[in-house]
Amino acid sequence: MKLRSLGDTGIMVSPLGLGTVKFGRNEQVKYPKPFEIPEDAEITNLLSLASDLGINLLDTAPAYGSSQARLGKLLPGPRDRWVVVSKVGEFFENGESRFDFSFDTTIQVVENSLRTLNMDYLDLVLIHSDGDDLRILEHEGVLDALRALKQRGLIRAHGMSSKSAEGGLRAVEEMDVVMATCNSDYLEDLPVLEAAAARNRGVLIKKGLQSGHVSGPESVAAAMDFVFSQPGVSSMIVGTINPKHLEDNVKMFDSVVK
Ligand SMILES: NC(=O)c1ccc[n+]([C@@H]2O[C@H](COP(=O)([O-])OP(=O)(O)OC[C@H]3O[C@@H](n4cnc5c(N)ncnc54)[C@H](OP(=O)(O)O)[C@@H]3O)[C@@H](O)[C@H]2O)c1
Repeated sequence: MKLRSLGDTGIMVSPLGLGTVKFGRNEQVKYPKPFEIPEDAEITNLLSLASDLGINLLDTAPAYGSSQARLGKLLPGPRDRWVVVSKVGEFFENGESRFDFSFDTTIQVVENSLRTLNMDYLDLVLIHSDGDDLRILEHEGVLDALRALKQRGLIRAHGMSSKSAEGGLRAVEEMDVVMATCNSDYLEDLPVLEAAAARNRGVLIKKGLQSGHVSGPESVAAAMDFVFSQPGVSSMIVGTINPKHLEDNVKMFDSVVK
């Protein structure tokens, strides 16, 4: 897959990225079917396959259970083979989420993620919104903390995984990257994609397959066509732990989008 620019960050990403929620968490998730968290060997194979297929972008978060630890242990190849995206703000503990967007916690969370992932920098850190995007951006310390981490060279870029169009639009003003929802059932973020394209911000798409509620080749093709018809999309992050789906998705991208 031909790499695309992640806005003006200087980072090049594959147009399909691999979401890793299912590497480490199977509670309180919105997928249609229950699933077992994969064994180490299955994750190793999936990561090697992703690499062979030309995928370089991995999306993880502290709130994805053991996802970061599994990547830290199992990620193959040199560090610069991968673009690693993590998040701050959300914690998932004892079966529920809690949020902390303060300056000090943000710094600690990124330092902790680096240790867990066994890395000395993260390519991108996103604010993992609790839904109140504008309050987070205007009244919490997280944005200043991400700027400070960027200055220290611990992260290359920052952004927000937003949950409202207003928040996405503000993130486009203030940050390098926005992660927005885009599928035919959720059109609210389309103005965010337009604004990001106009400002040359990076755009990552989440829930392009409606968290697995879209399935079957024709529906997956239509979902990809919808996502990549929008302006400015850098990469669509698709979560999967099924190697056949990973392969099919790359083939589908090649035939639908090229
Ligand atoms: N920041 C946030 O607030 C946030 C929220 C949601 C998601 N995300 C990120 O975005 C990523 C994607 O979002 P998502 O996981 O909610 O949704 P998604 O990518 O729309 O859907 C993932 C689901 O689709 C299934 N799937 C993948 N390819 C398929 C195919 N070819 N045919 C049939 N089913 C297929 C997967 O099941 P199999 O495992 O069986 O393939 C999985 O259950 C996440 O992994 C995460 O990294 C971020």
